[in-house]
Amino acid sequence: MKNALTLAAAAAFLASASAFAQAPDEMQRAKEFMQKSKAMMKPELREKADALPPEIQQFLFKVAVKHTRRSDTLTMRQVMQELLADYQAVAGAIATDNGELAADAARRLAHHRLPRGGMLPYLALDKINAKDLGVLPAMEEAVEGGAMKLAAAAEKGDMAAAARHFGDVTAGCVACHAHFRGQPGVSARLK
Ligand code: HEC
Repeated sequence: MKNALTLAAAAAFLASASAFAQAPDEMQRAKEFMQKSKAMMKPELREKADALPPEIQQFLFKVAVKHTRRSDTLTMRQVMQELLADYQAVAGAIATDNGELAADAARRLAHHRLPRGGMLPYLALDKINAKDLGVLPAMEEAVEGGAMKLAAAAEKGDMAAAARHFGDVTAGCVACHAHFRGQPGVSARLK
């Protein structure tokens, strides 16, 4: 037991040390991604993005630092398709007691790609304000925090706990879609 604790402490130290070593580079890349994204925005969006308060800007920066896979071409819908594929992989793995697959897919989900231009271009213009975007940290915690807890539980073989965290992840998908998305694919050619 004592050995296991020492090993865990050493692993944690190594993880934090390497995160530290990478940090300046990743911060720089995230900063470039944010600047490039802003430069792509048409004026109506750019104005709203620039007017966001510092706490929202900081949250968006934190997201850009954490998500090191940043696409130059993919739309948010395409990123969401990838999220869905990982989400379904997690569901199947939990149901079939495959903790390793569940953990891998959940971590991938938590570190999903960022779409071209970041997230803001894909949200309705009237949602680009402090109040509406203020809900994002809670949704991120449900989806990405939940996925990381799910991964840890699944790796320990505690599939019941993984299933509970899967519920939190799902609640995060649901809440964000309810807030920012509405029903997809509604036809303008129906009365
Ligand atoms: C930050 C808010 C947010 C979270 C969290 C979120 N989504 Fe989405 N999702 C969106 C938005 C916004 C769209 C619509 C994007 C568009 O149409 O440009 C969308 C669209 C989708 C689509 C539709 C793609 C299509 O082809 O129409 C799928 C599938 C999807 N999300 C899956 C998920 C899953 C699974 C989760 C949870 C693991 C999730 N989303 C979490 C905001 C979110």
